[in-house]
Amino acid sequence: MGSVLNQTARDLVAPGKGILAADESGGTIKKRFDSIGCESTEDRRRAYREMLFTTTGASEYVSGVILFDETIRQAASDGRQLAKILEAEGVIPGIKVDKGAVRLAKSPDELVTDGLDGLRERLVEYRALGARFAKWRAVITIGSHIPSRLCLDLNAHALARYAALCQDEDIVPIVEPEVLMDGDHSLERCYQVTCDTLHKVFDALYDQRVDLDGMLLKPNMVIPGKGHASYPVSPETVADATLSCFSTSVPAAVPGIVFLSGGQGDEEATANLNAMNARGPHPWQLSFSYGRALQAPSLQAWKGDDANLAAGQAAYRHRAHMNSLARSGSYTAAAEKAAS
Ligand code: 13P
Repeated sequence: MGSVLNQTARDLVAPGKGILAADESGGTIKKRFDSIGCESTEDRRRAYREMLFTTTGASEYVSGVILFDETIRQAASDGRQLAKILEAEGVIPGIKVDKGAVRLAKSPDELVTDGLDGLRERLVEYRALGARFAKWRAVITIGSHIPSRLCLDLNAHALARYAALCQDEDIVPIVEPEVLMDGDHSLERCYQVTCDTLHKVFDALYDQRVDLDGMLLKPNMVIPGKGHASYPVSPETVADATLSCFSTSVPAAVPGIVFLSGGQGDEEATANLNAMNARGPHPWQLSFSYGRALQAPSLQAWKGDDANLAAGQAAYRHRAHMNSLARSGSYTAAAEKAAS
């Protein structure tokens, strides 16, 4: 209670604010750039992230940004480090520290996240580069016979080892167990798997002595698979199912829950968060840590061309503003239509 970690966690979920996930790995950012016909060079990745981080007014809505290893070491066009530009705006730099999800031995259709080897040393270096929080993503896939108990146990164990190491090095861990929305499963199945996953994760966090008040949870919402006939369901349905699941599986000591967007449309992700906050107050702050849902319109407006910087920034500012409204349940169709 009252620790520096707790203060940082609370700052990240301050009212009206959330997190930008800009930590796409080399392969993922290439996929995003392919969609706008832009070659993924180090210069274009720098230009794109610099565009987002220097958007005037974004710091009213964005408390922190998750960076990739390349970006936390990168300088902007004016020679300043990108992480320093964020700090100067009052935005907290964070860092993705997992090394990605790889095939799980003995279970061919499941994944486990790598990156524990040498993690303490990497955390020490990232702290010196300005990172005050970190992210580790575990991937849980729903199929007819999965997730297996093995997959849930191993991913929960790794998340807890990562979280404990972060706290040891004065870094707030964002614990991200993502139940994928790929597939044709029902909302009820997502509910069950998300509850099971969260129970395993909090058991492991407790066993490994992680301070729950000095971390944030980054989960999926409870939502049917994209291939299920009922998809998309209403924001009210998502809100009811998600809040019901969390009320039995997320301890109130956790300061905040910052959702991933996971392939939801950008307005869909905003409307779902809004519906949850409209039902507040809750024991935890409910906020966003969106990647695609904050960036997609901005990426499309930018198209890899510096001539479109202002349009890219306007699109990003608007999405950040709309999600800020969703923090208090005050997002409306009229606000969505107005320019930010
Ligand atoms: P999406 O919001 O695009 O799912 O990205 C968030 C994230 O950080 C996934 O790890």
